[in-house]
Amino acid sequence: MSMLALAQRPMSSLVRPLAGHAKGGWTRSLCSIGTTKTMQKEANQWEPKTFCVVETGKDEVGTLRKILDCFETHNINLTHLESRLKSFARSGPSFHIDFEGVPDKLETTRFMKELQSINGVVTAEIQPTREVPWFPLNIRDLDLTRETLDGGTDLINADHPGFHDQDYKRRRGDIVALANEYTHGSEIARISYTDDETKTWGAVYSKLKELHGEFACKEFNQIFPSLEKYCGYAPHNIPQLADISDFLNQCSGFSLRPISGLLSARDFLNALAFRVFFSTQYIRHSGNPFYTPEPDCCHELLGHVPLFANPDFADFSQEIGLASLAASDEDIDRLATVYWFTVEFGLLEEEGNIKAYGAGLLSSFGEMEWSCSGAPSEECRISGSVGDLLKPKMEPFDPFVTCNTKYPITTYQPTYFVASSMADAKNRMSRFCDSLNRPFFPQYDSLTQSIRVTRAVKRAPRVSLVALQAEKQKAFFDAQ
Ligand SMILES: [Fe+2]
Repeated sequence: MSMLALAQRPMSSLVRPLAGHAKGGWTRSLCSIGTTKTMQKEANQWEPKTFCVVETGKDEVGTLRKILDCFETHNINLTHLESRLKSFARSGPSFHIDFEGVPDKLETTRFMKELQSINGVVTAEIQPTREVPWFPLNIRDLDLTRETLDGGTDLINADHPGFHDQDYKRRRGDIVALANEYTHGSEIARISYTDDETKTWGAVYSKLKELHGEFACKEFNQIFPSLEKYCGYAPHNIPQLADISDFLNQCSGFSLRPISGLLSARDFLNALAFRVFFSTQYIRHSGNPFYTPEPDCCHELLGHVPLFANPDFADFSQEIGLASLAASDEDIDRLATVYWFTVEFGLLEEEGNIKAYGAGLLSSFGEMEWSCSGAPSEECRISGSVGDLLKPKMEPFDPFVTCNTKYPITTYQPTYFVASSMADAKNRMSRFCDSLNRPFFPQYDSLTQSIRVTRAVKRAPRVSLVALQAEKQKAFFDAQ
């Protein structure tokens, strides 16, 4: 699955990741999505935290130690500590501190009084809990985040190969309905694919497999035989999400969730924080097996899935997801851009050769040649609408640069970012995520599949993101 995508390109269903907020109109009531009855608590209810600001009179050695001693004496655990200098040099710094405890409890009030009595402390006051953009706290919250831009079938417009095929639309509607019924913990529906659908899959499978040996990264080629052995990958069989999800879980802790269509960038990235990948189950129209204007099971299963079995790539993807939790719209845009140039269009250097690890490349025979061959044919360049270029530009992967790089969505990429290894990409990504202005630093608890946060925050009410994102996307295309 991908975030918002609209590229009209051969063999690749791509995404235009844009972040945004909701407006009225298209949106559907979230209540109607039908969440399971489950324990829903806020971050501050699971692990209560209090936020206080301690002002000091003078900038002198030892004041912070006395403050920390007070915490130790009361056996209170700090979860976040930040020192801030004042605008004028006449007074000491203030300390912004989050600690474990309930703000309105008597013991907290007593502790705060003692904090205030420390020599050198001017004031110590509890502050209101900060409100941050809504984000999923538990993997079950992803049931609330599957509202798609296209409702599953709205992208079958006049340019879509299935536009005049009523049977295709009906079939697509049936598969989408199953995805809409899915909630966390339930069985992923098994689809009985038709002969026609399997034939389409087989054509794509065989053509791509020819090229993967030459252009896919070693991590991809190492795992692919296991997918054939354990998940039913074969030209004559479309594998089932349920089997693949189980397999990925054993390899890297990743899992798949069926989805009806295109998600907002925020919702899509947020799911990666839980090592969850939203995947479509329907397939492109059989009229042209080598073309799709949107994500379908060929793109997901042949492009995305193999890398999710790799622990380094899984960590890399989750790092993006964790950084997206409660991030600002601007940071969602940056993260979505890095996602575009990595998870969708990333390249690696292997013994002096360029290899693909991005799903947009691995599921597009044309763009695989364009990006990896070093000397793409004229036919290839013309089919990707980059006929005026002889070959793409290769830049070293640096997320601080990548995040601000513009890119086209209706042609092959003129520029790619190349990492020296998957581990290198992961480390660089980690440093980039740490540099973002984050409202808290999240930690994923794999036992409870929940997010722990370092600061006293509460989530703003969830709003639908897809309508405004659709609007931004339209503006983006109108400006092309
Ligand atoms: Fe994708």
